[in-house]
Amino acid sequence: MTAQTQDSVGSTPSTAGDDLATVSWRDPQRPGYHLVPPGGWLNDPNGIGRWDGTFHLFYQYNPYAPVHNLIHWGHVTSTDLVHWHDEPIALVPSEGADSEGCWSGVLVDDGGVPTLVYSGRGGRYETACLATGSPDLRTWTKAPANPVIAGPPKGVDVTAFRDHCVWREDGEWHQLIGSGIRGVGGAAFHYTSPDLREWTYTGPFVVGDAASGDPVWTGTMWECVDLFTLDGTDILVFSAWDEGVTLYPLYLTGHREDGMFVPDGPARLVDYGLRHFYAPQSVRDDDGRRIMFAWLQEARGDAAAIEAGWSGVMSLPREVTLDATGALVFAPSAEVDSLRGEHLWSGGLPASTTGPTPLRTVNGDQLDIVLDVTLPEGARFELAVRATPDGAEQTVVSLERTGAAPLARLALDRSRSSLGAGLDVVDLGGDVPLDTDGRVSLRILVDHSALEVFAGGRALTARIYPTRSDAASTWVRTAAGTTQPERAAARVHSIDAWRMDSVWDGPRPLWPGEET
Ligand code: FRU
Repeated sequence: MTAQTQDSVGSTPSTAGDDLATVSWRDPQRPGYHLVPPGGWLNDPNGIGRWDGTFHLFYQYNPYAPVHNLIHWGHVTSTDLVHWHDEPIALVPSEGADSEGCWSGVLVDDGGVPTLVYSGRGGRYETACLATGSPDLRTWTKAPANPVIAGPPKGVDVTAFRDHCVWREDGEWHQLIGSGIRGVGGAAFHYTSPDLREWTYTGPFVVGDAASGDPVWTGTMWECVDLFTLDGTDILVFSAWDEGVTLYPLYLTGHREDGMFVPDGPARLVDYGLRHFYAPQSVRDDDGRRIMFAWLQEARGDAAAIEAGWSGVMSLPREVTLDATGALVFAPSAEVDSLRGEHLWSGGLPASTTGPTPLRTVNGDQLDIVLDVTLPEGARFELAVRATPDGAEQTVVSLERTGAAPLARLALDRSRSSLGAGLDVVDLGGDVPLDTDGRVSLRILVDHSALEVFAGGRALTARIYPTRSDAASTWVRTAAGTTQPERAAARVHSIDAWRMDSVWDGPRPLWPGEET
């Protein structure tokens, strides 16, 4: 499988006998410290927000089967962004505008009333719908006025139309809806409203150019548009899509002028893992931090997901900042550190490192590994995780600096990640900046099948599915060995590694709050 398509499979029940939650819990590929669905299907993060000091996160959820069908809104709360409490399902498709699914959207504060703005799936195009919540956000009532926007703007030939970014400014509500103009490119459309119910279309906010692939193709439709400001720069994040294929999230930096967005350069990738960090949504938290979550799509096929009983992982919370060059910088939010348990390694490297050098105590499938490395010109550094001692399975993260410029190529080689078949093991990678002296900080978060890598402020997220129970070793290599003696050796200044605590302790209810 190379890309996830929407509604591609039916709602085949997963496993006879045990319920989905029990089957899911037993799957060795299931992450232990990431947010995952109790069973069934998870995709985009939705309605991320803080309310009365509690953090709320909703997600695209099918509690019936691990397939994208009849999407509900799952709901979890947290006080620290890493431990989650299951809340009752917030939205269930029902007769009317969302009869085929409650698709992605946001949470806003409408004068004290928690309000969800989401996409109702039912007709040819999705529509904008509302639901208002009880003060504790546990009970949701769909607005009688649904849909509040019944379809794309009249006279515009769109490729698709859905997902919402809503904010209040200058005494009125603003909304962006993701779309695409046929034959032109992806787009975000802008609307205004006095009350979240009556909306006026004011025009395209920004339109992409599907004829250009330079430096990256922006697709024919933009899903999950997300607008925010960092240090006075406006940033528009969207997920590029084409004919049912989820490509990758991108961002534009720029400024707003006369109700439109003026980019100051081309779109850039949010994550070098492409669709494995898809449909990001972000929020400004009470401390002023910009926190982003995204859907870590599977790299195994539909049949494997059905057998496992679950599909889809939510990323760890990621803090987003802007660097001096105007590029986004990504790092796990500080709360992730609170999951660190046993300190497995502290210090430098063991002696000889021309071949793969095992870090013997750094063993496991829930790890946080932090390294400080210098890459002279020509140096290559490799680190393998989830490796079997015989190397039959291993996942290799590498950093390679070829030129004098302070730049390295971060790459992920999944060709030997698993002895299993039918997996997406496409090579992933991209450039990361080095300090002027060639130094870079590398962090690798391993959580069973989920892998989040950060280097020089860039991120690479992916999924891996080792089959062997001894696929738990870690090794590093600082030189390419005798076959490539011309290479300079990388210098490893420090390595720290921790075992990461689990945040789940057993099967969870598929319908929280409704257990019998
Ligand atoms: C992105 C997306 C959204 C849509 C939702 C449906 O992954 O396709 O555009 O609202 O997922 O689940």
